[in-house]
Amino acid sequence: MTKLNINDFVGTVGRPKILMVDDREENLVALERLLRDLPLELYRASSGNEALKLTLHHDFALALLDIQMPEMDGYELAEILRNEEKTASMPFIFISAIYTDNINVFRGYEKGAFSYITKPFEPEVLLNKVKFFVEKYQQEELLKITLNNLENLVQERTLELEKANGELVRSNEELERFAYVASHDLQEPLRVISSYLQLLEKKYNDQLDDKAQKYIATTIDASTRMKRLINDLLLFSRVGTRGEEFIGINLNDLIADVLSDLEVTINEHKAKIEVDSLPEIKGDPSQIRQLFQNLIGNGIKFGKPDVPSYIKIGYRNDEDNQVELFVEDNGIGIEKEYFDRVFIIFQRLHTRQMYEGTGIGLAISKKIVERHGGQIWIESEPGQGSVFKFTLAGII
Ligand SMILES: Nc1ncnc2c1ncn2[C@@H]1O[C@H](COP(=O)(O)OP(=O)(O)OP(=O)(O)O)[C@@H](O)[C@H]1O
Ligand SMILES: [Mg+2]
Repeated sequence: MTKLNINDFVGTVGRPKILMVDDREENLVALERLLRDLPLELYRASSGNEALKLTLHHDFALALLDIQMPEMDGYELAEILRNEEKTASMPFIFISAIYTDNINVFRGYEKGAFSYITKPFEPEVLLNKVKFFVEKYQQEELLKITLNNLENLVQERTLELEKANGELVRSNEELERFAYVASHDLQEPLRVISSYLQLLEKKYNDQLDDKAQKYIATTIDASTRMKRLINDLLLFSRVGTRGEEFIGINLNDLIADVLSDLEVTINEHKAKIEVDSLPEIKGDPSQIRQLFQNLIGNGIKFGKPDVPSYIKIGYRNDEDNQVELFVEDNGIGIEKEYFDRVFIIFQRLHTRQMYEGTGIGLAISKKIVERHGGQIWIESEPGQGSVFKFTLAGII
């Protein structure tokens, strides 16, 4: 244990209090003179009863007890103090003019909780004993304070966490409610807007000049995009709340399904897809399917112009029964500074004109992986293709 700095202690809890009990005034004065240079608060009692009264109002680090006193001697006093909860662990130094075997009475008490000194004594001997007990007291008090602080800290953090958790649940619920409102209430007026625009275009076509027709076409286009954004937001908010139970999934079968869904795109881009023999994992099948669809779809979509897309899907076993899977492409690649940003909802690195999409795929993918207790990350360099890696729970 590191040596305590006595001044640190005094700054934190004040000077340790010492109780001196002796029926003779001159002995008390002598003790006080001996101890006055130490950073202590000294209390005098001229009888056992007076000492008991003082212990009601103060916490003492140590008591110096004269043994021979009228009414109540030092041993009797010590016995009473031992039986009081407040003073049960207070150490004593007995000071006696004669050596007595009565000290044996205290042999059964906690080791080191008391000491004994006979008069006449060397001042240094008593000083050292007092210092020993005071230091022990200080260490214990500091430990108590530290433990207390730690306990408070843990309690504070737990409360903060609980609060943050509550807020998270609330904000998720809010997002869910918003998505509901968005999908039902917003889509209806949107549908009215686009159908009336279409009517306008159809019925009054002759009366509208080119500019007006262009304005209408742009507005119809925008409302179609808005509909898609609203649908995407709804999909995103449902990953956490509308998921299905986890079951064992044969990834080879699942990817075969995904590839057949993507057949048109694959043919369009003359993409070559290579799939390793994959392990079984545990998860929500429709979400895992969506995950691979997003990643493979992106790999094909963000291919280099005039270069046939090449996608490879594989895995390696991780520790803790996790499987680390990857979807690798030979496409345009991503700059390191965007590795985090692309996982944020509606964040895209390209215009719609260059590559179609709303920027929802990776946000949903991340949410799916996290719902499965895994992580997702990117390894890529611009022009060198990208690897999307993610972990999922394997099956033993
Ligand atoms: N394999 C990839 N290679 C290069 N860039 C990628 C790749 N995958 C994603 N990106 C970049 O990250 C952005 C976000 O991807 P995300 O899948 O979320 O959206 P999106 O594909 O543009 O639209 P959506 O998925 O809604 O159709 C993309 O717009 C693209 O800029
Ligand atoms: Mg995408």
